[in-house]
Amino acid sequence: MLRPIQGIFRASEYPNLLVGLDEPDDAAVWQIDEEKAIVITTDFFTPVVDDPYDYGAIAAANSLSDVYAMGGSPFLALNIAALPPDLPADILTEILRGGAEKVHEAGVVIAGGHTIQDKEPKYGLVVVGLVNPRKFFRKSGAKPGDYLILTKPLGFGTTTTALKRGLAKEEHLQEAVIWMKTLNRKASEIAQQVGLTTATDITGYSLLGHAWEIASLSAVGLRLHFEAIPFTEGAKEYAAQFIFPGGAFDNRLYFQEHVRFDPRLTENEQMLLFDPQTSGGLLFAASPEQRKAFEHKAKITQQPYWVIGEVTSSGLIEVD
Ligand code: CO
Ligand code: CO
Repeated sequence: MLRPIQGIFRASEYPNLLVGLDEPDDAAVWQIDEEKAIVITTDFFTPVVDDPYDYGAIAAANSLSDVYAMGGSPFLALNIAALPPDLPADILTEILRGGAEKVHEAGVVIAGGHTIQDKEPKYGLVVVGLVNPRKFFRKSGAKPGDYLILTKPLGFGTTTTALKRGLAKEEHLQEAVIWMKTLNRKASEIAQQVGLTTATDITGYSLLGHAWEIASLSAVGLRLHFEAIPFTEGAKEYAAQFIFPGGAFDNRLYFQEHVRFDPRLTENEQMLLFDPQTSGGLLFAASPEQRKAFEHKAKITQQPYWVIGEVTSSGLIEVD
Protein backbone atom coordinates (compact mmCIF):
# COMPACT_ATOMS: atom_id res chain seq x y z
CA MET A 1 0.00 0.00 0.00
CA LEU A 2 2.97 2.32 0.59
CA ARG A 3 4.44 1.73 -2.89
CA PRO A 4 2.92 4.76 -4.70
CA ILE A 5 4.04 6.94 -1.78
CA GLN A 6 7.59 5.59 -1.97
CA GLY A 7 7.77 6.91 -5.54
CA ILE A 8 7.01 10.45 -4.37
CA PHE A 9 9.01 10.60 -1.12
CA ARG A 10 12.47 9.18 -1.68
CA ALA A 11 14.07 8.05 1.58
CA SER A 12 17.42 9.65 0.66
CA GLU A 13 15.76 13.09 0.75
CA TYR A 14 14.63 12.61 4.37
CA PRO A 15 17.69 11.64 6.41
CA ASN A 16 15.84 12.37 9.68
CA LEU A 17 13.25 9.73 8.87
CA LEU A 18 14.95 6.76 10.56
CA VAL A 19 11.99 4.40 10.06
CA GLY A 20 9.25 4.90 7.53
CA LEU A 21 9.51 4.49 3.81
CA ASP A 22 12.19 1.89 3.17
CA GLU A 23 11.58 -0.59 5.93
CA PRO A 24 8.21 0.13 7.55
CA ASP A 25 8.00 -0.99 11.17
CA ASP A 26 5.33 -0.69 13.89
CA ALA A 27 5.60 3.12 13.80
CA ALA A 28 7.53 5.82 11.98
CA VAL A 29 10.61 7.36 13.67
CA TRP A 30 11.84 10.91 12.99
CA GLN A 31 15.13 12.01 14.53
CA ILE A 32 15.15 15.43 16.25
CA ASP A 33 18.72 15.45 17.63
CA GLU A 34 21.37 13.07 19.02
CA GLU A 35 19.24 12.07 21.99
CA LYS A 36 15.70 12.39 20.75
CA ALA A 37 13.47 10.99 18.05
CA ILE A 38 9.73 11.24 17.59
CA VAL A 39 7.76 8.04 17.09
CA ILE A 40 4.33 8.38 15.47
CA THR A 41 1.57 5.94 14.57
CA THR A 42 -2.17 5.72 13.97
CA ASP A 43 -4.71 2.92 14.06
CA PHE A 44 -8.50 2.66 14.23
CA PHE A 45 -11.04 -0.10 13.71
CA THR A 46 -14.66 -1.18 13.94
CA PRO A 47 -16.03 -2.55 17.26
CA VAL A 48 -14.56 -5.87 18.41
CA VAL A 49 -16.83 -6.16 21.46
CA ASP A 50 -20.40 -5.01 22.27
CA ASP A 51 -19.55 -2.90 25.31
CA PRO A 52 -18.78 0.65 24.07
CA TYR A 53 -16.47 1.49 26.99
CA ASP A 54 -14.39 -1.66 26.46
CA TYR A 55 -14.29 -1.02 22.71
CA GLY A 56 -12.87 2.47 23.30
CA ALA A 57 -10.32 1.20 25.81
CA ILE A 58 -9.20 -1.67 23.54
CA ALA A 59 -8.86 0.64 20.53
CA ALA A 60 -6.75 3.05 22.59
CA ALA A 61 -4.52 0.31 24.04
CA ASN A 62 -4.06 -1.03 20.50
CA SER A 63 -3.12 2.38 19.07
CA LEU A 64 -0.62 3.02 21.89
CA SER A 65 0.89 -0.43 21.37
CA ASP A 66 2.77 0.46 18.20
CA VAL A 67 4.73 3.11 20.13
CA TYR A 68 5.56 0.56 22.85
CA ALA A 69 6.57 -1.91 20.11
CA MET A 70 9.22 0.64 19.04
CA GLY A 71 10.51 1.04 22.62
CA GLY A 72 9.03 4.54 22.75
CA SER A 73 7.27 6.58 25.43
CA PRO A 74 3.97 7.97 24.14
CA PHE A 75 2.96 11.42 25.42
CA LEU A 76 0.39 12.90 23.04
CA ALA A 77 -2.66 11.52 21.21
CA LEU A 78 -5.53 12.60 18.95
CA ASN A 79 -8.89 10.86 18.66
CA ILE A 80 -10.03 9.59 15.27
CA ALA A 81 -13.68 8.59 15.15
CA ALA A 82 -16.30 7.78 12.55
CA LEU A 83 -19.73 7.41 14.12
CA PRO A 84 -23.26 6.78 12.84
CA PRO A 85 -25.44 9.91 13.17
CA ASP A 86 -28.16 7.84 14.88
CA LEU A 87 -25.80 6.42 17.49
CA PRO A 88 -27.24 7.19 20.95
CA ALA A 89 -25.23 9.92 22.68
CA ASP A 90 -24.50 7.78 25.75
CA ILE A 91 -22.87 5.07 23.60
CA LEU A 92 -20.69 7.64 21.87
CA THR A 93 -19.70 9.06 25.24
CA GLU A 94 -18.79 5.61 26.53
CA ILE A 95 -16.53 4.83 23.53
CA LEU A 96 -14.64 8.11 23.96
CA ARG A 97 -14.50 7.74 27.76
CA GLY A 98 -13.09 4.20 27.47
CA GLY A 99 -10.41 5.51 25.12
CA ALA A 100 -9.64 8.58 27.23
CA GLU A 101 -9.30 6.66 30.50
CA LYS A 102 -6.92 4.17 28.85
CA VAL A 103 -4.84 7.02 27.40
CA HIS A 104 -4.76 8.69 30.83
CA GLU A 105 -3.63 5.42 32.43
CA ALA A 106 -0.74 5.42 29.93
CA GLY A 107 0.31 8.90 31.10
CA VAL A 108 -0.65 10.33 27.71
CA VAL A 109 -2.93 13.30 26.95
CA ILE A 110 -5.59 13.49 24.22
CA ALA A 111 -5.08 16.96 22.74
CA GLY A 112 -7.83 16.89 20.12
CA GLY A 113 -8.98 14.84 17.19
CA HIS A 114 -11.51 14.59 14.42
CA THR A 115 -14.88 12.87 14.07
CA ILE A 116 -16.88 12.23 10.92
CA GLN A 117 -20.21 10.50 10.30
CA ASP A 118 -20.15 6.97 8.93
CA LYS A 119 -22.52 3.99 8.90
CA GLU A 120 -20.22 1.69 10.85
CA PRO A 121 -18.46 3.05 13.97
CA LYS A 122 -14.69 3.34 13.84
CA TYR A 123 -12.44 4.58 16.62
CA GLY A 124 -8.75 4.87 17.33
CA LEU A 125 -5.89 7.29 17.94
CA VAL A 126 -2.96 9.06 16.44
CA VAL A 127 -0.16 8.62 18.99
CA VAL A 128 3.10 10.54 19.29
CA GLY A 129 5.96 9.41 21.49
CA LEU A 130 9.64 9.92 22.13
CA VAL A 131 12.35 7.36 21.64
CA ASN A 132 16.13 7.25 21.86
CA PRO A 133 17.32 7.28 18.21
CA ARG A 134 20.12 4.80 19.05
CA LYS A 135 18.07 2.35 21.11
CA PHE A 136 14.61 1.91 19.61
CA PHE A 137 13.18 -1.52 18.72
CA ARG A 138 13.00 -2.80 15.18
CA LYS A 139 11.60 -5.97 13.66
CA SER A 140 15.11 -6.75 12.43
CA GLY A 141 18.17 -7.75 14.45
CA ALA A 142 17.13 -11.18 15.79
CA LYS A 143 20.09 -13.62 15.87
CA PRO A 144 20.24 -17.42 15.92
CA GLY A 145 20.38 -18.52 19.55
CA ASP A 146 18.07 -15.73 20.73
CA TYR A 147 14.92 -16.69 22.62
CA LEU A 148 11.42 -15.51 21.64
CA ILE A 149 9.38 -13.92 24.41
CA LEU A 150 5.62 -13.22 24.13
CA THR A 151 3.75 -11.06 26.68
CA LYS A 152 0.04 -11.82 26.10
CA PRO A 153 -1.77 -15.04 25.24
CA LEU A 154 -3.42 -15.59 21.83
CA GLY A 155 -7.08 -16.26 21.06
CA PHE A 156 -8.69 -12.82 20.79
CA GLY A 157 -9.78 -13.24 17.15
CA THR A 158 -11.48 -16.58 17.60
CA THR A 159 -13.13 -15.41 20.85
CA THR A 160 -14.52 -12.14 19.43
CA THR A 161 -15.72 -14.04 16.34
CA ALA A 162 -17.54 -16.48 18.63
CA LEU A 163 -19.10 -13.41 20.30
CA LYS A 164 -20.32 -12.09 16.94
CA ARG A 165 -21.94 -15.48 16.28
CA GLY A 166 -23.57 -15.54 19.71
CA LEU A 167 -21.43 -18.52 20.78
CA ALA A 168 -18.98 -16.96 23.24
CA LYS A 169 -19.21 -17.64 26.96
CA GLU A 170 -19.19 -14.51 29.09
CA GLU A 171 -16.13 -15.58 31.13
CA HIS A 172 -14.16 -16.31 27.95
CA LEU A 173 -15.06 -12.93 26.52
CA GLN A 174 -14.14 -11.13 29.74
CA GLU A 175 -10.75 -12.84 29.84
CA ALA A 176 -9.99 -11.72 26.27
CA VAL A 177 -11.27 -8.18 26.99
CA ILE A 178 -9.00 -7.82 30.04
CA TRP A 179 -5.96 -8.83 27.97
CA MET A 180 -6.91 -6.59 25.02
CA LYS A 181 -7.31 -3.62 27.38
CA THR A 182 -3.90 -4.25 28.97
CA LEU A 183 -1.24 -1.73 27.91
CA ASN A 184 2.01 -3.06 26.48
CA ARG A 185 3.74 -0.31 28.45
CA LYS A 186 5.35 -2.33 31.25
CA ALA A 187 6.60 -5.06 28.90
CA SER A 188 8.14 -2.39 26.68
CA GLU A 189 9.79 -0.60 29.61
CA ILE A 190 11.34 -3.84 30.89
CA ALA A 191 12.62 -4.63 27.41
CA GLN A 192 14.16 -1.14 27.18
CA GLN A 193 15.81 -1.57 30.59
CA VAL A 194 17.44 -4.88 29.66
CA GLY A 195 18.57 -3.63 26.24
CA LEU A 196 16.38 -5.64 23.90
CA THR A 197 16.26 -4.22 20.37
CA THR A 198 14.11 -6.64 18.33
CA ALA A 199 10.36 -6.36 18.93
CA THR A 200 6.95 -6.10 17.38
CA ASP A 201 3.37 -6.32 18.62
CA ILE A 202 1.02 -9.15 17.65
CA THR A 203 -1.96 -7.70 15.81
CA GLY A 204 -3.85 -8.42 12.59
CA TYR A 205 -1.25 -10.62 10.90
CA SER A 206 -1.37 -13.14 13.78
CA LEU A 207 1.54 -14.62 15.71
CA LEU A 208 2.90 -16.35 12.61
CA GLY A 209 2.57 -13.30 10.36
CA HIS A 210 4.31 -10.97 12.77
CA ALA A 211 6.89 -13.63 13.64
CA TRP A 212 7.57 -13.92 9.92
CA GLU A 213 8.17 -10.15 9.73
CA ILE A 214 10.88 -10.58 12.38
CA ALA A 215 12.32 -13.65 10.66
CA SER A 216 12.45 -12.12 7.18
CA LEU A 217 13.69 -8.67 8.25
CA SER A 218 16.34 -10.31 10.47
CA ALA A 219 17.23 -12.91 7.77
CA VAL A 220 16.82 -15.75 10.26
CA GLY A 221 14.41 -18.61 11.00
CA LEU A 222 12.30 -19.21 14.08
CA ARG A 223 11.32 -22.34 15.97
CA LEU A 224 8.11 -22.11 17.99
CA HIS A 225 7.00 -24.73 20.52
CA PHE A 226 3.22 -25.10 20.41
CA GLU A 227 3.06 -26.36 24.00
CA ALA A 228 4.81 -23.19 25.18
CA ILE A 229 2.44 -20.78 23.39
CA PRO A 230 -0.22 -19.35 25.73
CA PHE A 231 -3.91 -19.20 24.77
CA THR A 232 -6.92 -17.69 26.48
CA GLU A 233 -9.33 -20.12 28.18
CA GLY A 234 -11.89 -20.06 25.37
CA ALA A 235 -9.50 -20.07 22.41
CA LYS A 236 -9.04 -23.84 22.04
CA GLU A 237 -12.76 -24.42 22.57
CA TYR A 238 -13.74 -22.07 19.72
CA ALA A 239 -10.87 -23.31 17.55
CA ALA A 240 -12.20 -26.86 18.01
CA GLN A 241 -15.49 -25.57 16.50
CA PHE A 242 -13.40 -23.96 13.73
CA ILE A 243 -14.64 -20.46 14.61
CA PHE A 244 -12.14 -18.02 13.09
CA PRO A 245 -12.46 -14.56 11.56
CA GLY A 246 -11.85 -14.17 7.82
CA GLY A 247 -8.48 -12.61 8.58
CA ALA A 248 -7.20 -15.93 9.95
CA PHE A 249 -7.75 -17.56 6.55
CA ASP A 250 -6.12 -14.60 4.78
CA ASN A 251 -3.13 -14.92 7.11
CA ARG A 252 -2.82 -18.66 6.41
CA LEU A 253 -2.99 -18.07 2.67
CA TYR A 254 -0.37 -15.34 2.87
CA PHE A 255 2.13 -16.77 5.35
CA GLN A 256 1.83 -20.58 5.20
CA GLU A 257 4.60 -20.94 2.61
CA HIS A 258 7.07 -19.77 5.27
CA VAL A 259 5.80 -22.13 7.98
CA ARG A 260 6.51 -25.84 8.61
CA PHE A 261 4.18 -27.46 11.14
CA ASP A 262 4.92 -30.68 12.97
CA PRO A 263 2.38 -33.10 11.42
CA ARG A 264 0.93 -33.95 14.82
CA LEU A 265 -0.52 -30.43 15.10
CA THR A 266 -4.16 -30.39 14.03
CA GLU A 267 -5.57 -27.89 11.54
CA ASN A 268 -7.43 -26.15 14.41
CA GLU A 269 -4.18 -25.75 16.34
CA GLN A 270 -2.41 -24.40 13.26
CA MET A 271 -5.26 -21.95 12.62
CA LEU A 272 -4.93 -20.58 16.17
CA LEU A 273 -1.46 -19.35 15.21
CA PHE A 274 -2.92 -17.54 12.17
CA ASP A 275 -5.68 -15.96 14.29
CA PRO A 276 -5.55 -12.14 13.99
CA GLN A 277 -5.18 -10.40 17.35
CA THR A 278 -6.49 -7.03 18.42
CA SER A 279 -4.20 -5.31 20.93
CA GLY A 280 -2.05 -8.43 21.25
CA GLY A 281 1.17 -8.74 23.22
CA LEU A 282 4.74 -7.84 22.34
CA LEU A 283 7.07 -10.39 20.77
CA PHE A 284 10.77 -9.96 21.56
CA ALA A 285 13.99 -11.66 20.54
CA ALA A 286 16.41 -11.84 23.49
CA SER A 287 19.92 -13.26 23.87
CA PRO A 288 20.31 -15.81 26.71
CA GLU A 289 21.65 -13.04 29.03
CA GLN A 290 18.90 -10.61 28.04
CA ARG A 291 16.30 -13.32 28.57
CA LYS A 292 17.57 -13.86 32.10
CA ALA A 293 17.46 -10.14 32.86
CA PHE A 294 13.99 -9.81 31.31
CA GLU A 295 12.63 -12.74 33.32
CA HIS A 296 14.08 -11.30 36.52
CA LYS A 297 12.45 -7.88 36.04
CA ALA A 298 9.20 -9.38 34.75
CA LYS A 299 8.85 -11.53 37.87
CA ILE A 300 9.50 -8.57 40.19
CA THR A 301 6.95 -6.37 38.40
CA GLN A 302 4.42 -9.20 37.76
CA GLN A 303 4.65 -8.73 34.00
CA PRO A 304 3.31 -11.91 32.34
CA TYR A 305 5.58 -13.47 29.70
CA TRP A 306 6.12 -16.78 27.94
CA VAL A 307 9.29 -18.03 26.25
CA ILE A 308 7.76 -19.60 23.14
CA GLY A 309 10.74 -20.57 21.01
CA GLU A 310 14.14 -19.68 19.59
CA VAL A 311 15.73 -17.97 16.64
CA THR A 312 17.39 -20.33 14.14
CA SER A 313 19.17 -19.96 10.81
CA SER A 314 16.62 -21.99 8.81
CA GLY A 315 14.95 -19.04 7.04
CA LEU A 316 11.58 -20.59 7.95
CA ILE A 317 9.20 -20.73 10.88
CA GLU A 318 9.11 -24.26 12.25
CA VAL A 319 6.34 -25.09 14.75
CA ASP A 320 6.68 -28.28 16.79
CO1 CO B 1 2.40 -3.13 15.25
CO1 CO C 1 -0.69 -0.88 13.55
